[in-house]
Amino acid sequence: MIGHLFAHLYPWTKALHLIAMVAWMAGLLYLPRLFVYHCETPPGTESSERFKVMEYRLYKFIMTPAMIATFTFGIMLALTPGLVDWSAGWFYVKLVCVIGLAGTHGMMSRWRKDFLADRNRKPQKFFRIMNEVPTLLMMVAIVMVVVQPF
Ligand code: HEM
Repeated sequence: MIGHLFAHLYPWTKALHLIAMVAWMAGLLYLPRLFVYHCETPPGTESSERFKVMEYRLYKFIMTPAMIATFTFGIMLALTPGLVDWSAGWFYVKLVCVIGLAGTHGMMSRWRKDFLADRNRKPQKFFRIMNEVPTLLMMVAIVMVVVQPF
């Protein structure tokens, strides 16, 4: 019954999954960039306060809703009959990447709050490195779902 409905909705579900995923990734890649620049501005300055507003808006209005939408449409796809071969490995590797991306999202939330309270002590280099983590996880997730190598 629900499988039949999801099969009917499939092209729309996939389109919305991809739109949400692109918006989420944009945030996961750009927020640590903002942190890199924010590191260069002393607390209390006008630019530091502006970064706080930019970080807040990106996180609250783009990243979090986009993550929820990616998950919602992704779960709908997983429940669509015939898309996932549950005995193959690729879906589970993709799931690990997705959990990693959600974990990165959670850590970024904590760092954002540290910046907001002017108590960030992490060096700029740390955020430069953290910029690469969602990139790698995204690449593996997409190869898994598109190539389905195992
Ligand atoms: C709870 C999280 C997620 C679940 C359960 C999920 C599940 C799925 C499923 C079942 C499909 C359909 C595969 C098919 O049409 O054959 C799909 C498509 C896709 N997903 Fe996800 N996904 C999730 C998150 C993500 C994330 C975070 C990314 C990217 C970083 C992503 C990238 C893609 C792409 C590119 C496709 C299209 C593949 C194609 O054209 O066939 N997904 N997803």
